[in-house]
Amino acid sequence: MVICKTAAILENTLKKYYTNNINIGFVPTMGALHNGHIALIEESKQQCAITVASIFVNPTQFNDKNDFEKYPITIENDIFLLEKAGCDIIFLPSVNEIYSDGIDNLKHYELSYLEEILEGKYRKGHFQGVCNVVERLLLMVKPTILFLGQKDYQQCMVVSKLVELMNWQNKLKLVIVPTIREENGLAMSSRNRRLTEEERTKAAAIYNNLLYMKNNFERLPFNGLIKRAEEELLKNGFLKIDYISICNAQNLQPIAEYKEGVKLVVLIAAFIGEVRLIDNLLL
Ligand code: PAF
Repeated sequence: MVICKTAAILENTLKKYYTNNINIGFVPTMGALHNGHIALIEESKQQCAITVASIFVNPTQFNDKNDFEKYPITIENDIFLLEKAGCDIIFLPSVNEIYSDGIDNLKHYELSYLEEILEGKYRKGHFQGVCNVVERLLLMVKPTILFLGQKDYQQCMVVSKLVELMNWQNKLKLVIVPTIREENGLAMSSRNRRLTEEERTKAAAIYNNLLYMKNNFERLPFNGLIKRAEEELLKNGFLKIDYISICNAQNLQPIAEYKEGVKLVVLIAAFIGEVRLIDNLLL
């Protein structure tokens, strides 16, 4: 496995693959890796001749300074896990390498509705930061397939929009890999490291409620399902719920009642202790 710290070294390492019509898989991460990330690497290895993972804690996508400061850094373990998973190249850039022009004059992306709802509503500017870093990383790695986790459902849609804005639809395929869960159903996330044992156990209430909604959305009113889920989360020690929303899975427009043929997704964001967790399930 090769570790590249600059875009120039990365380009030099990948040069021979660019010319050969070979699939280059890319897994962007912010480190603190877990089995969810490893599933992305495994999927890339299935589909591509060469797999590149980046580790870069992107300062421009944190709307909350505290969240940025507390973001876990586990670089040695990350490198160990990537090597074990058979990743070929790690791109490990510095902030200056990614933002050579500084972080104050970022590009603005026209995401409209997509950044006004759900995560966009509660994390102002977050998706602008995501687009800024993902575009820069894509321009440096120049992959043919990009792998993202379904856990960040809205991010997958935003990145798909970014690919369109970059006009890369014909040269980059986006693959969304299903969420990997702990035994109790809790979606794997780097933020889970900040949970106490008790919180980790209680946090399973998110998945239990998603499942309840999946099993009952055809027969029970949506507002009742959402109210029940809110009550259950609060009963299980969640302190604050940002949203529980049933949406059209294609465009994230909220949907008030069941209609046959409309593909739905239910999305949740809630705080347990200081930690904000998100999850979703296709219905
Ligand atoms: O999902 C993440 O870890 C980040 O948002 C990403 C895509 C690596 C961009 O920083």
